[in-house]
Amino acid sequence: MSFMDIALNRQSCRNFNQKRQVEDEKLQRILECARLAPSACNAQPYHITVCKGEDAHRIAKATVGMGINGFTKDVPVMLVISEDSYNKTAALGAKIKSIDYRSIDIGILCSHIVFQAHEEGLSTCILGWIEDKKIREICNCNKVHLIVALGYANDDDKLRPKKRKSIDELVSYKS
Ligand SMILES: Cc1cc2nc3c(=O)[nH]c(=O)nc-3n(C[C@H](O)[C@H](O)[C@H](O)COP(=O)(O)O)c2cc1C
Repeated sequence: MSFMDIALNRQSCRNFNQKRQVEDEKLQRILECARLAPSACNAQPYHITVCKGEDAHRIAKATVGMGINGFTKDVPVMLVISEDSYNKTAALGAKIKSIDYRSIDIGILCSHIVFQAHEEGLSTCILGWIEDKKIREICNCNKVHLIVALGYANDDDKLRPKKRKSIDELVSYKS
């Protein structure tokens, strides 16, 4: 599978098969790809808590609200991405440049997770609609930035056409 195949065929899943569990060897490869993600000053200012079974259900409840994310009740694995401290150089860089490198790093980490998951035949949905306080209590972790829902899609889940800016809107060239 080429990277272009993955980019074209990965999509956010909101139709998980609650009966099909994620094989541990696949989960471990996904976590290894996450571990290899780049980050500002190589600070890796994040932590992943793998929640399965009843804990995944408790996390799912903390992602639902205002009619959003009801599908998470069927998700077998929830990867909770919380923050960890910067190293000295990243902390200094973030302060001097007023750039939130940690959020950028966490976005890249999530990309590694969802692309490797796709290669493994698994489906994902990145979740930003989350109740930080509740999830922190469950995971005993720092501030939660994102969650990646991980599992198998139901057989009737169809590939949707991609809705994206045109390449001309997205890209401009100078000289
Ligand atoms: C930071 C971030 C937060 C997101 N939060 C949610 C969410 O809480 N619930 C949800 O259903 N999808 C969520 N998504 C998925 C986006 O809606 C989705 O990536 C986008 O619509 C493009 O669709 P695609 O992923 O299927 O290509 C999130 C995606 C990102 C990157």
